[in-house]
Amino acid sequence: SQQKAEIVVKTNSGKYKIDKHIYGHFSEHLGRCIYDGLWVGEDSHIPNVNGVRKDIIDALKHIKIPNLRWPGGCFADEYHWMDGIGARADRPKMVNTHWGGVVEDNSFGTHEFLNLCEALGTEPYICGNMGSGTVEEMSKWVEYITFDGESPMSNLRKKNGREKPWKVTLWGVGNENWGCGGNMTPEGYAENYRRYATYCRNYGENRLYKVAGGPNVDDYRWMEVMMKNIPHHMMSGVSVHNYTFTYRWEDKGNALGFNEDEYFSLLEHGMRMDEIVTKHAAIMDKYDPEKKIAMIVDEWGAWYNVEPGTNPGFLYQQNTLRDALLAGTILNIFHKHADRVRIANIAQLVNVLQALFLTEGDKMLLTPTYHVFDMYKVHQDATMLPLDIISPSYSRLGKEINSVSASASKDSNGKIHVSIVNIDPNQSVDITCTIKDLKNGRFVSGNIITAPKTDSHNTFEKPNEVELKDFKDAAVKNDVLTVKIPAKSVVTIELN
Ligand code: AHR
Repeated sequence: SQQKAEIVVKTNSGKYKIDKHIYGHFSEHLGRCIYDGLWVGEDSHIPNVNGVRKDIIDALKHIKIPNLRWPGGCFADEYHWMDGIGARADRPKMVNTHWGGVVEDNSFGTHEFLNLCEALGTEPYICGNMGSGTVEEMSKWVEYITFDGESPMSNLRKKNGREKPWKVTLWGVGNENWGCGGNMTPEGYAENYRRYATYCRNYGENRLYKVAGGPNVDDYRWMEVMMKNIPHHMMSGVSVHNYTFTYRWEDKGNALGFNEDEYFSLLEHGMRMDEIVTKHAAIMDKYDPEKKIAMIVDEWGAWYNVEPGTNPGFLYQQNTLRDALLAGTILNIFHKHADRVRIANIAQLVNVLQALFLTEGDKMLLTPTYHVFDMYKVHQDATMLPLDIISPSYSRLGKEINSVSASASKDSNGKIHVSIVNIDPNQSVDITCTIKDLKNGRFVSGNIITAPKTDSHNTFEKPNEVELKDFKDAAVKNDVLTVKIPAKSVVTIELN
């Protein structure tokens, strides 16, 4: 029988903005993300802007990248920022112990990163080193970057060629401090946070938005301690990290060549983001009912076994239509929680985990996940319109999940965008979507991401196997949108 779903969009009850910052990205000194990914150096034959690949800069501007997190990840708590300033030839080399034991020559440092953010028109989101760094080191980094007056750090910055400070507000105080960032207890971290954050000063107009290193996945006790032990005026957000595996950490599954059970399992696992965010949000609500403190999911995405023959410490994986469906599903979940989730960063930008770009020499390809960020950019800073869904189910492995997820928003020009993901790999679904109070609604345009196979993907030989295409299979009459969503696809419809 034909699959059917019903959606009711509550047009007049939109209270919260979908913060553009949930479309943030993450670039760590890991594998080929920075070196051989973003950074090729000014002398490269690959077209670049101050040493960063121009093709990637252009593609990131196209999707309106709102923020970029750097330098890690686990690398952040081993990074000593002073090693990455001054003449490149004089910068000390270090070993990247966490990621493959390779030599890090520090040629991409504070200036290179912040100049990249300026070229992108995006907000930097810096993660400071609490695990192996001192309060003084973190404090001086903030001073070096943001202080406009006369001081040892601002003078050093000027000596290194940057007269005016940069504007940096998003500031992480350590990363995964329950693990690679120092193996702390939540109480120990909270105590340290108070010290480190105290000396991360606001200089002039620059107001830091300080983020406490939060829980891993469902560590609700960690969240509880953050909310209880850190004075609320000292933090703007608490981070949460939640990756998606096919099965579990020890058995992540493969990015390519998976069977339908594995396809199902990965997406079923991804949907748990809703439960994790809901439960953390309930704890935050208890201590902060006015929702002043944001939940910041600054690491999320699919994490598979590395591609055969690649360095296991480099976390290089391919990216398929399944990953696009996962991205659409999780972004719909973030939209639903727009009241609390205000920043998110998919991991990672180039050549690492659920990347938007893969590179090989001078070649670069856009992954299916990139196209989701392109399709969904219309939701950035739009008002979230709550909705109800009655979805058909998709069952396997003795489990049942909804095959359809959706989200909707209204932008500042009054345009409504409805994004729908159908994860059922075999059946299309007829959707009746009532958009309450829509008068004389008109279908403006639509686009779709789908492909012949669940593991269809882009290669350097065939870079356009999965891409964004126009979608017209929709009609609007009064306040009802009817649309047929093909199997395994993500669709966004624009109405006004
Ligand atoms: O993104 C890869 C790693 O995952 C990050 O460095 C760390 O924060 C997390 O464990």
